[in-house]
Amino acid sequence: GVKRDLSGKHVLITAGPTVEPIDPVRYISNHSSGKTGYAIAKAAALRGAKVTLVSGPVSLPKPEGVDVVRVKTAVQMLEACEAAFETADISLFAAAVADMRPEHVADCKLKKGQADADLGTIKLVENPDILKTLASRKGPHQVVVGFAAETNDVIANAQKKLEKKKADVIVANRVGEGLAFGTDDNTVFFVDHEEVEELPTMSKSRLADVILDRALEYV
Ligand code: PMT
Repeated sequence: GVKRDLSGKHVLITAGPTVEPIDPVRYISNHSSGKTGYAIAKAAALRGAKVTLVSGPVSLPKPEGVDVVRVKTAVQMLEACEAAFETADISLFAAAVADMRPEHVADCKLKKGQADADLGTIKLVENPDILKTLASRKGPHQVVVGFAAETNDVIANAQKKLEKKKADVIVANRVGEGLAFGTDDNTVFFVDHEEVEELPTMSKSRLADVILDRALEYV
């Protein structure tokens, strides 16, 4: 049977991509499928947690026993997380949040080479960092698990994110053609202030339980 070791706990999870509109028909986004975050949400619910899953646009069914808050943009994702974070015992930030968004969302479809609405020059501004914003408000009994998606220098970059974003642990994965985004399996490292642990390749559903086990070590 499944151990109910998360009963009485509130778990917050972000999943999927964010989608940042350019004009009524175009957007900036990435290849996150939501599989990782949804697997964690499902596993946490099975282990007895009250689960809030803040999800960008994905095509996955709602996991049973999970409260899903659907959002599109990073700003909306932050707002939805702020409401849940205060009572969350464990928060896991698996979403691939767009770092930048178009400064203005055009009312009409942009055209090539049009003086006032040129598709060739979209000015971007920085999105809020959801993990960093919330981890800075973390109380002593709250656990924060960040992720790091890296094409190169996986460990060193994850260590930088651990410090900068004030997470308890970072789940680091290599990304690129055929890696991590949208796959059913993943190979990750746990990077915390003491050590780096390389995990064997496993399914995202198995990984979900392993990540929750690890998170419980910081409670
Ligand atoms: O959804 P899948 O298809 O299963 O793919 C899984 C995954 C590759 C998306 C997942 O394993 C993963 O790595 N998620 C984090 C992706 C990411 O955006 O990483 P990052 O290195 O850019 O960001 C670092 C951390 O800060 C992440 O926890 C991210 O959620 C968070 N962040 C980043 C930017 C931002 N504006 N706000 C954030 O909260």
